[in-house]
Amino acid sequence: MTQWIEKITNAASLEELENLRIDTLGKKGVLTLEFAKMKSVPNEEKKAFAENLNTQKTIITDAIEAKKEILEKEALNKKLEAEKIDVTRFNNEMSCGATHPVVETMDRIIRYFQNLNFAVEEGPLVEDDFHNFEALNLPKYHPARDMQDTFYNKDYTLLRTHTSPVQIRTMLTQNTPIRMIAPGTVFRRDFDITHTPMFHQIEALVVDEADKVSFANLKHVLVEFLQHMFGDVEVRFRPSFFPFTEPSAEVDISCVFCKGDGCRVCSQTGWLEVLGCGIVDENVFKAVGYENKSGYAFGLGVERFAMLIHNIGDLRSLFESDTRLLGQFK
Ligand code: PHE
Repeated sequence: MTQWIEKITNAASLEELENLRIDTLGKKGVLTLEFAKMKSVPNEEKKAFAENLNTQKTIITDAIEAKKEILEKEALNKKLEAEKIDVTRFNNEMSCGATHPVVETMDRIIRYFQNLNFAVEEGPLVEDDFHNFEALNLPKYHPARDMQDTFYNKDYTLLRTHTSPVQIRTMLTQNTPIRMIAPGTVFRRDFDITHTPMFHQIEALVVDEADKVSFANLKHVLVEFLQHMFGDVEVRFRPSFFPFTEPSAEVDISCVFCKGDGCRVCSQTGWLEVLGCGIVDENVFKAVGYENKSGYAFGLGVERFAMLIHNIGDLRSLFESDTRLLGQFK
């Protein structure tokens, strides 16, 4: 008896324990065989004999149950230990993405102007005629609207063709002085090697009391900004036209690829056009109820900047979601 208890207590596995159960309580187990001897036990001893056997049976059954519980717990702990996930282990196989060059360029430009204390403003992508055109001195049927191939919705709303409507929204809700940029998505019906129907612009607007903001201020900010973005480049202001600025200019930098000698990217001109700018037109101030103010504005295409910074040839490749392109920007 004690030797069985000892064996049970020392059982090393559930399997061994089960074998011990069969050896003691099983069909041919030692205790079962003892019970079979009942028949030949004299009547007056039967009761004591049976009681004794039953006690032994209870002791062995309890010992097996207790040991079983211990072994099961051990097995579970072992299993949990084996299946533990080490979240701190480094996986060399893991592939990770990279910031898209357009987003990266956008972030860089935003950070630059935030450092100059420009606020970041946002506006809706679905605009109305007033904010996208009318208030920007682009009356209906004005030929300058043709500069922007617009996506119109059935309900007379439209997808904004530029970030300039954020100028209007900001001036309608805020007072001067205003120093803001408006980064965001814009849409035009155009698709070829240098145009996609969706692209990104960053708008800037500075407005203060009359005569406080000049073209010289604009020029200074832009030259500093473009040299920050493109390094040691020359900057050229070319007279141009936008309905919402007067005077207006398009701004070129000396070609970052040929340093101005002339190459395929700059069409042999030595110059690359990078943005549009000007002094805010009086009619724009009138449309938002501003009087005696002065201001400048400019707008740039983020994709164009990204392409020049990273030497990307085809604008469309920025939107093809090909991970091989992104892989180059890790
Ligand atoms: N909104 C103009 C465009 O989309 C860019 C621009 C903005 C020009 C502000 C001048 C001033 O082309």
